[in-house]
Amino acid sequence: MRRKFVAGNWKMNKAADAAVALIEAIKPLVAGLTADRDVVVCPPFTSLSAARTALAGSGIGLGAQNLHWEPAGAYTGEISADMLLTSGCTHVILGHSERRQYFGETDETVNRKLNAALKAGLAPIVCVGETRQEREAGRIEAVVLGQISGSLQGLSPAQAALVTVAYEPVWAIGTGLTATAAQAEEVHALIRGRLAALFGAEVASAMRIQYGGSVKADNAAELFGQANIDGGLIGGAALDAASFAAIVKAAG
Ligand code: PGA
Repeated sequence: MRRKFVAGNWKMNKAADAAVALIEAIKPLVAGLTADRDVVVCPPFTSLSAARTALAGSGIGLGAQNLHWEPAGAYTGEISADMLLTSGCTHVILGHSERRQYFGETDETVNRKLNAALKAGLAPIVCVGETRQEREAGRIEAVVLGQISGSLQGLSPAQAALVTVAYEPVWAIGTGLTATAAQAEEVHALIRGRLAALFGAEVASAMRIQYGGSVKADNAAELFGQANIDGGLIGGAALDAASFAAIVKAAG
């Protein structure tokens, strides 16, 4: 039985003080819920340290939104996996569509980042998803499964078991357009099939696949009720304590 997993991707929102205020508002609302599901928040880098202190003892994990694959060196503006670990992170989001779209990330660079995260002991959330044009052209399977194979290339089954996949159709992110539960489930099942082909049925059946893209309090329960949907990666609704908590509740 896979444990449900809800992560909040705060994107470029919530400087340290605001991050702490949001965490303080979330904590009482999800108290007790973390016993049987995983909950993580992913603030921007500069808020991680304050967030770590605010989260202490809450049962809510801390994640970052990106990392660089090298451990140290002349990489101006970059942050390594070890830096995230020492900032208190347990998780890291990799290959989000905004990073692929605006910052040139590819399956190859996501794969390098994934290896760095695993080596450091961070739990990665690897994002995949098709654009509207790709969906309309009937290329969902080719695009999404290509991203899975490319991003997770070379992993051993034991490493793959530590990875969470987030299926986030690009057309649903921040648009208010959510994939229907049936549309999402169809792609999640395809993803699990590809994971089984790559890493074996047993590992694939234990790996968690989150859905992301305009998940809200009122659509979360139906999405999370699908056989292959193991929780969500939440953007906009994660910036409001009540909405985020309602989504965490829906993952029961
Ligand atoms: P959204 O973002 O919930 O605002 O659509 C999800 C994401 O980008 O992870």
